[in-house]
Amino acid sequence: MAQAEALATQGPSPQREITDGFCFFKGAIMPLADANVNISTHALNYGTGCFEGIRAYWNAEQEQLYIVKGLEHFKRLLQSSRILKIKSAYTAEELLDWTVRTLKENGYRENVYIRPLAFKAAQVVKVTLTGLRDEIAIFTVPMGDYVKTEGLRAVVSNWTRVADNIIPSRAKVTGAYINPALANDAATADGYDEAIMLSTDGQVSEASSANLFVVRDGTLVTTPITADILEGITRRAVLQLADQFAIPYEIRPIDRTELYIADEMFLAGTGAQIASITSVDRRAVGDGELGPVTQRLQGLYNRAVRGQEERYLDWLTPVYT
Ligand SMILES: Cc1ncc(COP(=O)(O)O)c(C=O)c1O
Repeated sequence: MAQAEALATQGPSPQREITDGFCFFKGAIMPLADANVNISTHALNYGTGCFEGIRAYWNAEQEQLYIVKGLEHFKRLLQSSRILKIKSAYTAEELLDWTVRTLKENGYRENVYIRPLAFKAAQVVKVTLTGLRDEIAIFTVPMGDYVKTEGLRAVVSNWTRVADNIIPSRAKVTGAYINPALANDAATADGYDEAIMLSTDGQVSEASSANLFVVRDGTLVTTPITADILEGITRRAVLQLADQFAIPYEIRPIDRTELYIADEMFLAGTGAQIASITSVDRRAVGDGELGPVTQRLQGLYNRAVRGQEERYLDWLTPVYT
């Protein structure tokens, strides 16, 4: 725990208003204050956009800012765009390159959250996905922990996770975030830290804005990509780290009541990072403390994203050269 705490992200809260700095918009780096859209923009009216959340971690010793899994995130953005028929003028590599330039322009020496956004920019009233002008933007903001990374109290939400045939769940669609916002807002109002969402079939899908893992008898379990989850990049990273520790894992449906008998449970996501859940529906998970599997994965992840693990340097794109 001491190590995880020492490495925990310090920085501004995600609820701080973003007003200053430079962003990428309309093919150029510009002040964020000038990067505005009209109120008749399609995406603002209908939620017809998709986005990414990427983190960059500052390594003070190396004086380096590392973008984590940048290319994977931009590839997912292009997949989401394809589902929404948003044309991209840029490849994933070019978007990563613009991200590096944006971060450099801001001159950050702290942990940063990166928000690429591809959207229907046309000022048109018609509800459609076809024949509309598209736009892409990237803004960045210094950010600490999105949620606390230890001892989260979760609740199984009575809001159902959006199904792929209602709003594509594997696309990170702006409008679809009403669903986790409702779940998370209700959870917070009821005194919980996080909402776990079930699919329309009543099985576990994922948390409000992170994938979910449980540990049962030493085996790591997470839901399949067909369980209406966002195909998480941190989820894949966790499975890679589990291999290093020879922790066995299963990708399979998870029943609600498995949550009540799990030994450990944690969130995995870019924003959430690896965050332990120690109670669900006011029942203790295991003995109600941070478990050993979660702790090992969390420690290794926190080091890997900061460029402190040689074997995972290929996850990272250094900003300053
Ligand atoms: C709904 C949802 N699921 C899962 C994740 C985790 O995905 P990733 O690890 O790619 O950040 C996120 C976070 O962005 C999310 O919003």
